[in-house]
Amino acid sequence: MSDRAALLGEIAAQVRTCTLCGLHRGRTRTVPGAGNPNAEIMFIGEGPGFNEDQQGLPFVGRSGDYLVKLLKSIGLTRDQVFIGNVVKCRPPENRDPLPDEITTCKPYLDRQIEVIDPLVIVTLGRFSMARYFPNGKITQIHGKPKIEDGRAYYPLFHPAAVLRNPGLVPQMDADFKRLPDLVAQMRAQRSAGVKPPDVPKDDDPPMQQLRLF
Ligand code: URA
Repeated sequence: MSDRAALLGEIAAQVRTCTLCGLHRGRTRTVPGAGNPNAEIMFIGEGPGFNEDQQGLPFVGRSGDYLVKLLKSIGLTRDQVFIGNVVKCRPPENRDPLPDEITTCKPYLDRQIEVIDPLVIVTLGRFSMARYFPNGKITQIHGKPKIEDGRAYYPLFHPAAVLRNPGLVPQMDADFKRLPDLVAQMRAQRSAGVKPPDVPKDDDPPMQQLRLF
């Protein structure tokens, strides 16, 4: 097993026993995230829904089917990327995650990003977008990457939002089609020696539970 796979496994094991916020009370299974530990692209959604909570895997419901279709349109499978979420346990009735739940879960996601070190982080929906574009409006910034220190942050509509509003399909298709070029651009930057910071810039002091790393 690669170091990255082992480290992601350790994070997933910590998530599995996590009781740091109230979401643990209603969960069936935790959904730490899944995919290729060496992924060049990492997708970050909001939080598990019903199907994800049942299976312990991200994006396995209707939104997931649509995400897989979009990946296929650029020649990728879900096993080639990493898919995670801002919160790792299902909010009751699929409500929005609360600010304190997002903050409490943040060190897990920060650590996953640090381990995978993706070239491109694709945010799906407003909660992951807010990590990198605090004042961004998705209708204005979707498909416009922000490039910093050898990594691109690429805000996209949430697949569920596109399923609810089919008028967004052409924009989502067009945004997705630009992803391979963005990855190639970031590969070139990395080969030229540009490196992302070891610790996420907005890192909070790690919580006790994560000091194990
Ligand atoms: N929506 C999300 O944001 N994440 C999932 O894992 C599934 C649906």
